[in-house]
Amino acid sequence: MLLKAACLLLSCLLLCSADQYQQEAERIMRTSPVIDGHNDLPWQLLKKFNNQLSLKSANLTTLNDTHTNIPKLRLGHVGAQFWAAYVPCETQNKDAVKRTLEQIDVIHRMCHHYPDDFECVTSSAGIQNAFTNGRVASLIGVEGGHSIDSSMAVLRTFYQLGVRYMTLTHSCNTPWADNWLVDTPEEEPVHNGLTEFGKRLVREMNRLGMMVDLAHVSVKTMKDALNVSRAPVIFSHSSAYAICKHRRNVPDDVLREVNKTRGLVMVNFYNTYVSCSSKANLTQVADHMDYVKHVAGPEAVGFGGDYDGVPSVPDGLENVSKYPDLVAELLRRNWTEKEVRDALTNNLLRVFESVEQVRDAMAHEKIVPDDGPIDFKNLEGTCRTDYGYSSNGDHPKLLPAVLTLPVLLVLRW
Ligand SMILES: *[C@@H]1O[C@H](CO)[C@@H](O)[C@H](O)[C@H]1NC(C)=O
Ligand SMILES: *[C@@H]1O[C@H](CO)[C@@H](O)[C@H](O)[C@H]1NC(C)=O
Ligand SMILES: *[C@@H]1O[C@H](CO)[C@@H](O)[C@H](O)[C@H]1NC(C)=O
Ligand SMILES: *[C@@H]1O[C@H](CO)[C@@H](O)[C@H](O)[C@H]1NC(C)=O
Ligand SMILES: *[C@@H]1O[C@H](CO)[C@@H](O)[C@H](O)[C@H]1NC(C)=O
Ligand SMILES: *[C@@H]1O[C@H](CO)[C@@H](O)[C@H](O)[C@H]1NC(C)=O
Ligand SMILES: *[C@@H]1O[C@H](CO)[C@@H](O)[C@H](O)[C@H]1NC(C)=O
Ligand SMILES: [Zn+2]
Repeated sequence: MLLKAACLLLSCLLLCSADQYQQEAERIMRTSPVIDGHNDLPWQLLKKFNNQLSLKSANLTTLNDTHTNIPKLRLGHVGAQFWAAYVPCETQNKDAVKRTLEQIDVIHRMCHHYPDDFECVTSSAGIQNAFTNGRVASLIGVEGGHSIDSSMAVLRTFYQLGVRYMTLTHSCNTPWADNWLVDTPEEEPVHNGLTEFGKRLVREMNRLGMMVDLAHVSVKTMKDALNVSRAPVIFSHSSAYAICKHRRNVPDDVLREVNKTRGLVMVNFYNTYVSCSSKANLTQVADHMDYVKHVAGPEAVGFGGDYDGVPSVPDGLENVSKYPDLVAELLRRNWTEKEVRDALTNNLLRVFESVEQVRDAMAHEKIVPDDGPIDFKNLEGTCRTDYGYSSNGDHPKLLPAVLTLPVLLVLRW
């Protein structure tokens, strides 16, 4: 009898304390909702509906075969989301710019279709306004430098359209930066990090106030960008290399640079990056967060779930409604309330504010837009025109004729 009572008491203690962390997580997240660095719902909208949000089946309240929908975002206390304007590397030198514009457009239309749930914002203050209004602050990240087709003008235009981070590469090199695959046996380094043009693009992003995202890039590209950028950088969806030796993750020396520059690593939940295997669980994601906190500091940790961009997610983190469970695990590991609030909300806000301050400082220094085009010979693809590149200006086709004229004259003589 006594034994039975003791058992009951013990199991209650366990259950009640488990519940206590969960309740604590919910309480904290009511005022510090998660700002997540990377979600690929727009890519799902393209694949499933060809971006036709008006289809009945594309209703984001009832959508039920994605990691993300509106009720799940609400349950998960997602306060702000960087939606990825992602188009595959296959589009490079083809229709990358057009398709990226279409993904930017579908994100804008998400905000128009669901004005009670999404608020498209473009600043740190805008995120906080959306919190106050009880809507999910919606921001745009362009995932991969191939999307700008090596054009400063396209980069600037994306900024005008609300893009607030660009991942320098996806899983392919651009004419100005190497991607993570060059750190594997699959590819050889081509540029050895950033080219001079790549460094200028980073400075132009600083000038604009667009965050530099180093998910997907090679280690040398990370280091070059950390060195060149005047503002802190982010990893919008990357985990810790020491925990799982996958080249999409961030190595220790780079974590220490992130600490020095007050940047941010938003931990990715993809099984392959979490456990280096096809299976993973919530505890292992918490291990990555603990590790980033340990090496880069508690002000350098964030969340970058990569939901709807990956084929598998950990047990316990099945969809975007599960963030509070992960926060409960951090509390169970004795993270302080401040550390948890920082990882959820304040670290990203701080980095974003620094990026905005650098933009303002550069405006004050009267640094002008970089209008130097990439060398024509560095562009790839076969169906380009060369307007502007020929020395003869508006009629490049005339140039060969002009050049052959003296040759003909010489031959005549
Ligand atoms: C989506 O479905 C919900 C629930 O059925 C409905 O209330 C809402 O009006 C729909 N939204 C749109 C934009 O069609
Ligand atoms: C998911 O949604 C589809 C159509 O929108 C519906 O036919 C189906 O029954 C739903 N499935 C579940 C499990 O709710
Ligand atoms: C995802 O979230 C819902 C809450 O909307 C939850 O009830 C459901 O079990 C989760 N789905 C899966 C596959 O775990
Ligand atoms: C950083 O850039 C400076 C030039 O701005 C260069 O002298 C230095 O070697 C670079 N450091 C690293 C670690 O790349
Ligand atoms: C998560 O996976 C690890 C490694 O397989 C295991 O040791 C741990 O017990 C698991 N955690 C949970 C809560 O299942
Ligand atoms: C960097 O590390 C130091 C020492 O560990 C720590 O006090 C500081 O908070 C860290 N910085 C960030 C941005 O986390
Ligand atoms: C958390 O703190 C408690 C009380 O100080 C301690 O007993 C426990 O071992 C700590 N847990 C972890 C995971 O550090
Ligand atoms: Zn990605």
